[in-house]
Amino acid sequence: MAGFGCVAGVAVLMLAATALGVSAQGGNVFEWDFAARGDAVCTNLATGVTIDNHPPYAMNTAGFSDSHRNIISYDTDDIYALGFEQYSPGEFYLSIYKWFPSNSSAGPSVFQAKGLNTNTVDEGATFTILSNGSLDLRSSDGTLVWTTGTEFAGAVSMEFNMDEGNLILYHSTGAIVWQSIDNNGSP
Ligand SMILES: *[C@@H]1O[C@H](CO)[C@@H](O)[C@H](O)[C@H]1NC(C)=O
Ligand SMILES: *[C@@H]1O[C@H](CO)[C@@H](O)[C@H](O)[C@H]1NC(C)=O
Repeated sequence: MAGFGCVAGVAVLMLAATALGVSAQGGNVFEWDFAARGDAVCTNLATGVTIDNHPPYAMNTAGFSDSHRNIISYDTDDIYALGFEQYSPGEFYLSIYKWFPSNSSAGPSVFQAKGLNTNTVDEGATFTILSNGSLDLRSSDGTLVWTTGTEFAGAVSMEFNMDEGNLILYHSTGAIVWQSIDNNGSP
């Protein structure tokens, strides 16, 4: 089962709101349709991740360990999560990593958003899903740390495939504009 969340610990969002542009598509996939949903800003806070423009779903605020507290989206079937992974106190990677909600533990990351200026971000950093087709990671002072740089590439949706641990941007033709497995900063 797929979940999506952005509050303290984890918010589990049932993927039933297709009309809002978020849907489960035949498995453990979280999809964000840019035209339907617009921009979203996920902010990395000490209390967890908050997200503006989030879908109005029921939330599960079960606590997890501090080092993996800031999950944006995860799979309840013990596969992959997307979130802010604490590397050392106050330093985070935006990562995709193995996540086991059954025992609240994490495995190794398979992707880390490697920065233009630094590899990590701080508390108050933001991961922004831009409806013009790009994903940005900024530190709390607004410095751009990492971006897919795809705002002119015609991406119409983002998908997080929780079984494969892959974050994907799709063109309206269905072609892949960008995917994390092809752009892996080695963990
Ligand atoms: C948590 O559960 C997973 C899946 O069963 C297992 O692989 C992992 O070793 C467990 N970790 C801990 C710390 O118990
Ligand atoms: C994409 O959207 C963001 C947020 O609205 C904006 O700051 C940025 O300039 C846009 N990029 C382009 C190329 O339009």
